Amino acid sequence: MNNVNAGVLGTGHSYPEGVLTNADLEKLVETSDEWITTRTGIKQRRKAAPGEYTSQFAVRASQEAIARSGIDPMEIDLILCATVTPDQILPSTACLIQAELGANKAAAMDIVAACSGFLYGLTIANPMIRSGQIKYALIIGAELLTRYVDYTDRSTCVIFGDGAGAAILGPVDVDHGILAARIKSDGRFEEQLYAPGGGTKGGFTAETIARGDHFFKMRGNEVFKVAVRSMTEISRSVLCEAGLKTEDIDLFIPHQANQRITDAVSNALNVDQSKVFSNIAQHGNTSSASIPIALDECVDAERVKKDDIVLLSSFGGGFTWGSVAIRW
Ligand code: ACO
Repeated sequence: MNNVNAGVLGTGHSYPEGVLTNADLEKLVETSDEWITTRTGIKQRRKAAPGEYTSQFAVRASQEAIARSGIDPMEIDLILCATVTPDQILPSTACLIQAELGANKAAAMDIVAACSGFLYGLTIANPMIRSGQIKYALIIGAELLTRYVDYTDRSTCVIFGDGAGAAILGPVDVDHGILAARIKSDGRFEEQLYAPGGGTKGGFTAETIARGDHFFKMRGNEVFKVAVRSMTEISRSVLCEAGLKTEDIDLFIPHQANQRITDAVSNALNVDQSKVFSNIAQHGNTSSASIPIALDECVDAERVKKDDIVLLSSFGGGFTWGSVAIRW
């Protein structure tokens, strides 16, 4: 029997100043504010300026999370940075963040699980804290997706935005914190959402760059269907494992992929709309950053309070998906 659970002790988020509105996109591709709003719920997204990079936002989000948790960076044992848009190939963005934070005691690595990366991080650190192997983990989701967006492809460029969110996970009493956590993947869906260039298989040459192989490619409609099904199924499993019913949920934070996905999943789970959080209108889809940004916005807005049941659910490229239930 464990004596502690792993709980969220502090959260933070950060995003670029630059804003890309639907009106801006109307000037780049054949689209309209009306199409983007009705099909996705997105009104604007953040876009980093040239010269800005992923770890800058991750560090700011982390500093806020660390300050709010009341711990010292030197107490952090583990840093997991979920990102598909790292600063560079080597070293990991997590190591760069560790150096900036002065978290000299921490092991650090990146998690590549697309939009599910933050929930992968919570799920990996959870048993390490419960077992006493580590005390504090910093889990980050940070993305500059706009660097990998083809602004001539209207099916992807309207969706993605930039930002970072972070949470300090640490020991809490056994009645609180993470009650159940599950993550899954299915690599057979690789080509539904992928960037074929830039690695050892697709290469990174003048030719692959000219072809735009490094840009995200997505069969949005297929992703949409599997996302709704998978997020619903895994959320039900996690609720069941935690011994909870839908009506116990005080706050549901799904990955902010598309407002229609959020609506479909919350309807399938039968969660009251007043308990479903959405910030997709302001941020678009920020992949692994979407859930920690949303979580921190909920903390700021006092939409989550002690003893609340919070359900998180995600889906992303890979495919990967996951869900975590927390008693706050
Ligand atoms: N403006 C105007 N028309 C458009 C646009 C646009 N921006 N994009 C596509 N269209 C057109 C298409 O060309 C198509 O036209 P046609 O009927 O003449 O062929 C029509 O709109 C319908 O296209 P669909 O792709 O069927 O549109 P859909 O309603 O599925 O919406 C969207 C597309 C928004 C991409 C949606 O499918 C979606 O959000 N999918 C899920 C995205 C997601 O969750 N990704 C996973 C996480 S991201 C990650 O892991 C990094």
